[in-house]
Amino acid sequence: MEIPFFPEQASTFAARVDNLLLVLLALSGLITFGVVMAILYFVVKYRRGSGADRSGAIVTSNRLEAAWIFIPLLLGLGVYVWAANIYFDMKRPPEQALEISVIGQQWMWKFQHPDGPREINELHVPVRRPVKLVMTSQDVIHSLYVPAFRIKQDALPGRYTNVWFEATRPGQYHLFCAEYCGTEHAAMTGTVIAQEPGAYQQWLRDNAAGPTVAASGEQLFTELGCDSCHLADDSGRGPSLVGIFGEEVQLSGGETITVDENYIRESILQPRARIVAGYRPIMPTFEGQVSEEELMMLITYIQSLSEE
Ligand code: CUA
Repeated sequence: MEIPFFPEQASTFAARVDNLLLVLLALSGLITFGVVMAILYFVVKYRRGSGADRSGAIVTSNRLEAAWIFIPLLLGLGVYVWAANIYFDMKRPPEQALEISVIGQQWMWKFQHPDGPREINELHVPVRRPVKLVMTSQDVIHSLYVPAFRIKQDALPGRYTNVWFEATRPGQYHLFCAEYCGTEHAAMTGTVIAQEPGAYQQWLRDNAAGPTVAASGEQLFTELGCDSCHLADDSGRGPSLVGIFGEEVQLSGGETITVDENYIRESILQPRARIVAGYRPIMPTFEGQVSEEELMMLITYIQSLSEE
């Protein structure tokens, strides 16, 4: 059996992360090797009883000092800029990314595609297209880890985090939970199935089950009575939700906030925490009435109102 030294490189990040890691290893290795060799050399040369010349000892050398300050400094800064560049790219999902919701739960991963299909411990994605995972947890902290894509992100209860990737090769890749989350943490694994875009579309059609997430969200929006206050033309008791996603709104305290998944979530569960300027704090909380899945649906629906 072959035990690979590195996982496969199956995303656009993989080679970039590996190259950085290899250079870091090489630099650390070189410096460690140099220091150890110098120690061994001096230990032998100046051992007690050796006849080595001990006269003319150098007390200080500005050139040497400058060299060992500036060379490592430049190397360190170079690695820093390089790594920061990769980090920023990983933290900024492209706008047109395909968005898939993820809920971590003891002990499984639940995935919800925008067009309707749901999966557990399996995630189908198209290759050569950015995919953004918006994730949360129903209980404790989990962490979604796909070594072949070189991505890892915690899923936290009570808020949304995200991570994105672009798969480069069709195939099946391991998916792990990388945060100890209880008895069956080690069993909280799964498979990412990366497919050619055509095959992915076919899979979506074969697994089309019921309405899209946004449509389910819209239905829930009506059932919960949200639509009786949040009128589209802004004449209701609550602000209109059309076109707000991704925009800044002014709050009653004077400050502004960008409407994102976390703000909408807060507004549903703790509606009085941050009130939009010009409105009264009259909305009741929906804490305990909507599940994580339903929250995701409502958010996807509100997001869809900004997409035309
Ligand atoms: Cu979930 Cu470890």
